[in-house]
Amino acid sequence: MSGTLEFVSKRLTWLGPGVSRFIEKKMKAVPAVKKQIDKQYDGMMDDLEKSLKPYKGKYDAYSTLPTAGISREEVLRKMHELADQEQDRWKDGFVSGSVYNGDAEHIEFLNKVYALTSQSNPLHSDIWPSINKYEAEIISMTANMLGATNTADKICGSLSSGGTESILLAMKSYRDRAREEKGITKPEMVVPITAHAAFDKAAHYFNIKMVKIPLKDDLTVDIDKYRAAFTENTIVAIGSAPAFPHGLIDPIEELSEIARSKGVGFHTDGCLGGFILPWAAKLGYNVPKFDFTLPGVTSMSADTHKYGYAAKGTSVVLYRTEELRRYQYFTMADWPGGLYFSPTFAGSRAGALSAACWATMLSMGEEGYLKASKAILETSDKIKDGIKAIPELELIGNPLFVIAFKTSSADLDIYRVLDQMAQKHWSINGLHKPSCLHIAITLRHTMPGVAERFIADLKESVAFVKANPVSEGGMAPVYGMASSIPFRGMVTDLLTRYMDVLYKV
Ligand SMILES: Cc1ncc(COP(=O)(O)O)c(C=O)c1O
Repeated sequence: MSGTLEFVSKRLTWLGPGVSRFIEKKMKAVPAVKKQIDKQYDGMMDDLEKSLKPYKGKYDAYSTLPTAGISREEVLRKMHELADQEQDRWKDGFVSGSVYNGDAEHIEFLNKVYALTSQSNPLHSDIWPSINKYEAEIISMTANMLGATNTADKICGSLSSGGTESILLAMKSYRDRAREEKGITKPEMVVPITAHAAFDKAAHYFNIKMVKIPLKDDLTVDIDKYRAAFTENTIVAIGSAPAFPHGLIDPIEELSEIARSKGVGFHTDGCLGGFILPWAAKLGYNVPKFDFTLPGVTSMSADTHKYGYAAKGTSVVLYRTEELRRYQYFTMADWPGGLYFSPTFAGSRAGALSAACWATMLSMGEEGYLKASKAILETSDKIKDGIKAIPELELIGNPLFVIAFKTSSADLDIYRVLDQMAQKHWSINGLHKPSCLHIAITLRHTMPGVAERFIADLKESVAFVKANPVSEGGMAPVYGMASSIPFRGMVTDLLTRYMDVLYKV
């Protein structure tokens, strides 16, 4: 990757640092300049493709169906070969988030459940009522973990394919309710800038205006600006527990009360924290209220496929009332194909994922989640202490299990530290505003020696960057570009083309 990005950064600098986005747009309108920019992009993409497609040329590629089917043994052999090359990093705990459990026996159990239910589809509830039973129970267990027992309201929900779908479903429900009940045709949502990109995606898909609230110097949301942002078109307000970038929990109690006082719904994004914060609170960690215990919280998302330890592909979206959930549903009574309904975006769905999620929750139980949370939080404490002991680094806030840190020394480029960590096999996240890195601690990091290895590698990486203040290549120049206004438009173009490359055979 680093060679590619060096190439990218060198090619982009030809525009010069003083070019604003406006000028960039104007330039693109000039055919000759557009042609030149496209040529630059094409060059970059050729290079990028090499790093994105490591198997190209080394393994058979199929752009058309094989004439005769390949034996199952051979297909499996091919797939094992690729999987074997991709397992070490996450299994050995080098990756932030991504694989939250990863224990071999747990995976084997999930695979058995998947095998048992691989043909099922909850769209056909008459054929597989077991899957509907599993889903209803997952939703109920999640709701009761997130404060449903402390309210007279009948908390309800749906199972979705992941955090993003849960958020999209909730935002669509608020939009449709506001249109139906208040006649709002120009909906707006009030969102701290640290809320997950899935909210922007919802705004993009459902034509909702994002009203983004900045952070104060301590990187907590500016509550006065949050309060002032509500208008007669506000359909929902958002808070995260915690937010992805810095792992910090928004002041959900205050934010949801502001929304309640304005007669607006409030969504707590518990995609990351939903399955760990309740247990952290029981373990005595300082966890502010964030769930349905608060009367202003009208919906939540909580990802079973993260700290719920289910296989990838499930999340829970919860609503305070069945009335609100109904705005999520789709029904059709006059289709020649028959009476049609589906509660979420997909039609047919993999019942096996719901089954594996249910099986995970039953096999973990409260004690399992408590034990896992304890191990993760203790490892996080160890890692936080290790970061605090590196003089050039500074923790952002006081996070629980998603730990962000920046540099306190003006001449240290944190993105070059990221590059050095990548050289040592680590896959941690680079963030903007401010420039910082984060690691989401999972059960993989609780294995003996992993936290110590992280800190030792981090220390070495910082020392290397300090000793070698000038270097080219890696992620650092691209992160630099992305955070500077002149180049942000170009980075967006680059990301679009990146996705095109992903689909190339
Ligand atoms: C706080 C938060 N919300 C939403 C999401 C989106 O989840 P998914 O990637 O499962 O769609 C994430 C993912 O990391 C997240 O951290």
